Amino acid sequence: MYAHPKTRFEPTRIAPDTFLIHDHHGEGEAPVSVALNSMVIRAAQPVVVDTGVAENRDQFLADVFSVVEPADIRWVFISHDDIDHTGNANALMELAPKATLVINWFMAERMGGSLAVSPTRQRWVGDGERFDVGDRTLVAVRPPVFDSPTTRGLYDSKTGVYWASDSFAAPMLQPVRYAAELDESFYVEGINTFDRYVSPWLELVDDARFQTTVDRVAALAPTVIAGCHTPAVTGDRVTAAIAATRRSPSAESLPEPDQTVLEQIQAALTAPVAA
Ligand SMILES: [Fe+2]
Ligand SMILES: [Fe+2]
Repeated sequence: MYAHPKTRFEPTRIAPDTFLIHDHHGEGEAPVSVALNSMVIRAAQPVVVDTGVAENRDQFLADVFSVVEPADIRWVFISHDDIDHTGNANALMELAPKATLVINWFMAERMGGSLAVSPTRQRWVGDGERFDVGDRTLVAVRPPVFDSPTTRGLYDSKTGVYWASDSFAAPMLQPVRYAAELDESFYVEGINTFDRYVSPWLELVDDARFQTTVDRVAALAPTVIAGCHTPAVTGDRVTAAIAATRRSPSAESLPEPDQTVLEQIQAALTAPVAA
């Protein structure tokens, strides 16, 4: 439950028939807030991309169904098996009887009993594989930065939108719809810090080999980068986000909040409230 008023964004149309479904965490409780987005592609066979957190279920479902009727949803693509991407997968699949859940073998294994969707309603799509949704092909492309071995992003060949899962993530001082609304240096440094938190193994990688994983996304020439933890990346910010990611293995990043920070939070929670 949020004790503070939460900024509310209706779904944002980021490309033809493509809508970012907004949510975020941390507003009013932490120095920064972090997006928790999902996406809907109103293709000939409509697609929902990631499903947000369970705590936001009512709003998530209302937002998705404001864009597409549940009976029309044909595909629910999950980028990886973290709870901020799978939180409403079971609920959505129950409400969308014609939908097929697009995951992969390892996601099914890792989710185990928490996945309540029959294998008969699943399709397994791995990195580099594609599936047809009637008027376009969607391609699963692993982003350069990820925190689960199951991760695949999703590239829409018709609009050029790339769903980056946990990659190209950056915090926001205040919730915004577009990355262009953030101060540029704050934004690109935020990408570096998030990349290092999400993928601490970046400091171990061979830089030339890492760059080939960024090249792969750059070669898609995405018109828009959308992701779970970034406002919509459009215009010049697409280039800036890709360039920032290239620097992440060697960039300075802020240390993760530690026990000292927890003690500050505990002190704030237990401080006597003025009468
Ligand atoms: Fe994740
Ligand atoms: Fe995530």
